[in-house]
Amino acid sequence: MKVIMHNSASLDMSITGIPMDMEKHYDIVRKYNPDVYMFGSVTAYSWIKEDTPSESKSDFNKPKKGKPYWVIVDSKGKMENWLHFYRQSEYSGNIIVLVSEETPMSYLEYMSARNYDYIQTGMKHVDYKEAMSILKKKYNVKTLMIDSGGKLNSYFFEHSLIDEISILVSPYVKGVDSLVLFRDIKESIDLKLKTSENLDGYVWLVYQVVK
Ligand SMILES: NC(=O)c1ccc[n+]([C@@H]2O[C@H](COP(=O)([O-])OP(=O)(O)OC[C@H]3O[C@@H](n4cnc5c(N)ncnc54)[C@H](OP(=O)(O)O)[C@@H]3O)[C@@H](O)[C@H]2O)c1
Repeated sequence: MKVIMHNSASLDMSITGIPMDMEKHYDIVRKYNPDVYMFGSVTAYSWIKEDTPSESKSDFNKPKKGKPYWVIVDSKGKMENWLHFYRQSEYSGNIIVLVSEETPMSYLEYMSARNYDYIQTGMKHVDYKEAMSILKKKYNVKTLMIDSGGKLNSYFFEHSLIDEISILVSPYVKGVDSLVLFRDIKESIDLKLKTSENLDGYVWLVYQVVK
């Protein structure tokens, strides 16, 4: 399975509080056309706002949707009562949630009652290697894109699971308030530049991870 990490970031690699061109960001996602589009629970929850509609009866039904699957890593059940927000998105395929052995029972019951797919691996946190192997075998996943904050990416790097890095660099320096994309990376990573493209002042960089 090929795993690509994709982010928008400022020149100093801040991923929040920066000007982003979402059209360009998602154009790149579409170019990759991944079977799985994955993000972490912090990112997932950051889109739930005060005016996000709460669940209605029809949200219990699993819509018939094609790929890409949208996979949310959420072993703590942060998205309990809010998964319908993603299920109803016009861009999402079916939702799959990655959970662990310590995931609260109430979250598992919430998902079962609404027919959400979930994959349970690992003890405290998700075992990403095992979860990916299940995604490959059960859902025939060949390409997986992670579009998340720095944390989830770093756990994937820890297990050498990322093959390619795609970054859309905004013409901006965030400075001291940066939430830096690579803030949790513990070991250096060798990269090989594959392509670089000027997209109207934004620079799209694609690197292969040297393993
Ligand atoms: N600029 C961009 O391209 C971009 C893209 C996406 C998000 N963002 C921003 O990034 C911010 C959130 O980023 P984030 O890095 O804090 O969070 P995140 O990547 O969304 O979520 C962190 C994930 O790491 C997992 N995790 C935590 N500890 C772990 C451990 N010890 N072992 C294995 N997995 C572990 C968590 O799993 P559990 O849930 O199972 O605990 C969680 O799903 C938000 O502000 C969002 O808006 C920016």
